[in-house]
Formats: sequence, C-alpha cells, structure tokens
Amino acid sequence: MPNLRIEQVDGEAAVKDWQHVHNLIIPTDPLSLDDVRERVRRNRLDVAYLGDVLVGCSTVRPPTDDTSTATVIARVLPAHRGQGFGGEIYAEGVAQARKLGAEVIETIVLASNTDGLRFALAHGFVEFERYVLPGDTIAYITLRLA
Ligand SMILES: CC(C)(COP(=O)(O)OP(=O)(O)OC[C@H]1O[C@@H](n2cnc3c(N)ncnc32)[C@H](O)[C@@H]1OP(=O)(O)O)[C@@H](O)C(=O)NCCC(=O)NCCS
Repeated sequence: MPNLRIEQVDGEAAVKDWQHVHNLIIPTDPLSLDDVRERVRRNRLDVAYLGDVLVGCSTVRPPTDDTSTATVIARVLPAHRGQGFGGEIYAEGVAQARKLGAEVIETIVLASNTDGLRFALAHGFVEFERYVLPGDTIAYITLRLA
C-alpha cells in the first residue's frame, strides 16, 4: 500500500483541503476559510494525501496551561475508508499531541456516527461523557484513551 503523506496545514492550499474534508464530514458545522485560518493558530491541523489525492485531515487541540488533556480527531473521506488511513492519521495525531505535552488524550464523536464510535473504541478509547449542545438533538460523546 502506498504511504500516506500527512502534512501540517501551512498555506492556503492546505487550508482549503482541510476545510473541504471537515465540511464534507461535518455538514452540521460548516467552517469558513477564516474559521480554519483562526483554528490553525490555536490547533494543530493536518491534511493527508495519497500521492496528490486528498484522503483526510485531523485536528489536535493541544493541552492548555491548566490541563494536560489534548483532543485528537481523525477524518477520512468516505471513498477512502476501511484501508487503514484513519488509523494512520489518528496515530500521527496522538504522536503530535504527546509532543505538545498531552498526558490524557480525548476524542469527540457524534452519537449517531457508528463508524466513528467503533473506530474510537477499537483504538482504546472509552466513553467519558456525553452532552447535547443547545439547539441540537444528537449527543456528542467525549471518549478518553484508557
Ligand atoms: C472514523 C474514521 C476516521 C475511520 O477512517 P478509516 O480510514 O475508515 O479507518 P481505518 O481504515 O483505519 O479503520 C476502519 C476499519 O477498517 C478496517 N481496516 C483497516 N485497514 C484495513 C485494510 N487494509 N483492509 C480492510 N479493512 C481495513 C479497520 O479494522 C476498521 O474496521 P472496523 O470499522 O470494523 O473497526 C472515518 O470513518 C471518519 O472520518 N469518520 C468521521 C469522523 C470521525 O468519526 N472520527 C472519529 C474520531 S477520531
């Protein structure tokens, strides 16, 4: 299998690619390019390619001064799922989170996203809490790496 190329978002082309994957997978929370540019300053955002083909992206929210918890979210475009790319992107996200000093790793999955939940459980996460945002009906589940 050819290797994935996972790169930190740096520059407009990567900002657009990251936005494309995010908004396709999370249509309920579309982000503008400015939103993504703002997130690049707070979070570690990566994009993943197979050759020149965009495959997925990730978000690592680094630990803050008063917590040692980072959040890692991997996303793979539907056409490229089930080939191990999610696992690779996720492992790179965890490695980045550890470099940033994270002692606890969390991820967030919508309760309706059965693939994402199974993926998180298969990678050693356990449910930590679930919450429904005001105006939403579907719960978000926070899972913690055991
Ligand atoms: C969750 C998500 C990232 C998984 O991406 P993916 O690329 O399909 O992930 P993987 O291929 O590594 O693993 C998915 C499945 O494929 C299987 N798989 C991995 N490599 C494989 C291969 N070479 N051949 C066949 N199957 C394979 C895995 O065992 C896994 O099986 P399971 O679903 O029965 O547990 C993707 O579904 C997604 O983007 N979902 C929306 C966002 C999300 O929920 N993110 C989760 C928070 S981290």
